Amino acid sequence: MIIGVPKEIKNNENRVSLTPGGALELIRRGHRVLVQHDAGRNSGLPDEIYEKQGCEILPTIEDVYKNAEMIIKVKEPIEQEYDLIQPNQLVFTYFHFASHEPLTKAMIKSDAICLAYETVKDSKGGLPLLIPMSEVAGRMSIQAGASYLEMPHKGRGILLGGVPGVQPAHVLILGGGVVGTQAAKMAAGLGAKVTILDINLDRLRYLADILPANVTTLYSNEYNIRNLVKSHDLIIGAVLIPGAKAPNLVTRDMLKTMRPGAVLVDVAVDQGGCIETCKPTTHADPTFVIDDIVHYCVANMPGAVPYTSTVALTNATLPFAIQLAEKGWKKACTENAALKEGLNVVNGKVVYKAVANAFDLEYSNVDDVLA
Ligand SMILES: NC(=O)c1ccc[n+]([C@@H]2O[C@H](COP(=O)([O-])OP(=O)(O)OC[C@H]3O[C@@H](n4cnc5c(N)ncnc54)[C@H](O)[C@@H]3O)[C@@H](O)[C@H]2O)c1
Repeated sequence: MIIGVPKEIKNNENRVSLTPGGALELIRRGHRVLVQHDAGRNSGLPDEIYEKQGCEILPTIEDVYKNAEMIIKVKEPIEQEYDLIQPNQLVFTYFHFASHEPLTKAMIKSDAICLAYETVKDSKGGLPLLIPMSEVAGRMSIQAGASYLEMPHKGRGILLGGVPGVQPAHVLILGGGVVGTQAAKMAAGLGAKVTILDINLDRLRYLADILPANVTTLYSNEYNIRNLVKSHDLIIGAVLIPGAKAPNLVTRDMLKTMRPGAVLVDVAVDQGGCIETCKPTTHADPTFVIDDIVHYCVANMPGAVPYTSTVALTNATLPFAIQLAEKGWKKACTENAALKEGLNVVNGKVVYKAVANAFDLEYSNVDDVLA
């Protein structure tokens, strides 16, 4: 198979979808890997390293899209890329369709096969291609939050861990999945007082077992959230309903009840956000202030630490990319139930129910497109 690795062009996205080591694994199996010039440069991976493994370096993004059967990317295609995608081309990347109607419609129109990293699901219900980026974003959310709590960044001027004789900051984490757990570990490690909420009681039991004593677990409901936001300095949005828009857990009216200078970090912003007033921001301009509350809503947080993120992502995607290259998407998805879950849009048909529901589009059964 001919595999294309374009350079990411979304604002401040510095990751690349395949490391030279990953490319070598594909080339060893007889596949061709086309890498756009400088695709890996911002992850510390110059063209020469790819060339040494046998990759072909192409000068432009158009060359890569025109010649590849499978495109492996990191972020969802942005508007400039819509028309580059070819009919029947397999595009393997994060899409987050349910929060982006124009992208969904453009991919339906493209007649391509869109396999979304974020909905690939293993037999235990885990999301193996979301986990590594969630680990990165969860850890980063506390670093970012701690920094924006500083007064020069419009925060309320509280040090996350306090000092002897002074109260530490109070951190509220909405959602105790991968992002939430990593955030809780980081915040607790820095000495903050942490409260973590989830609707899954088994998950709360697990978190109560593994997290340190400065973390309290609580059931997530509107009553608890409404009370807790008043006394917390840093709030992390980390909920996920797979393939669907996140629910608004912190509503606009709650902001007025919060401490001025408190910080909201909505990590779930890529799925529409779980804080009503959040709208996506970029690393170039990551925050805005509403009612004296600092909002940080960067949709591609791991893009700021491209070395860690590129390696973590490709560790997880490569085994799937190899199967797709070896067998083609139909056979690979038929034989691997986890990959099949990743199919969202196939030759103009929406085959993922939550995406169809999000925009009132016609839903087609995935088994029909695999037949
Ligand atoms: N902004 C970024 O750069 C970035 C990076 C990685 C992940 N993310 C996003 O972060 C979000 C969380 O990802 P994850 O990997 O931790 O997901 P996850 O599935 O591991 O965890 C989500 C948790 O939310 C809980 N939940 C669902 N509804 C809830 C509610 N009403 N109240 C409290 N908890 C609730 C679930 O029970 C689950 O434990 C996703 O939207 C993901 O796309 C964003």
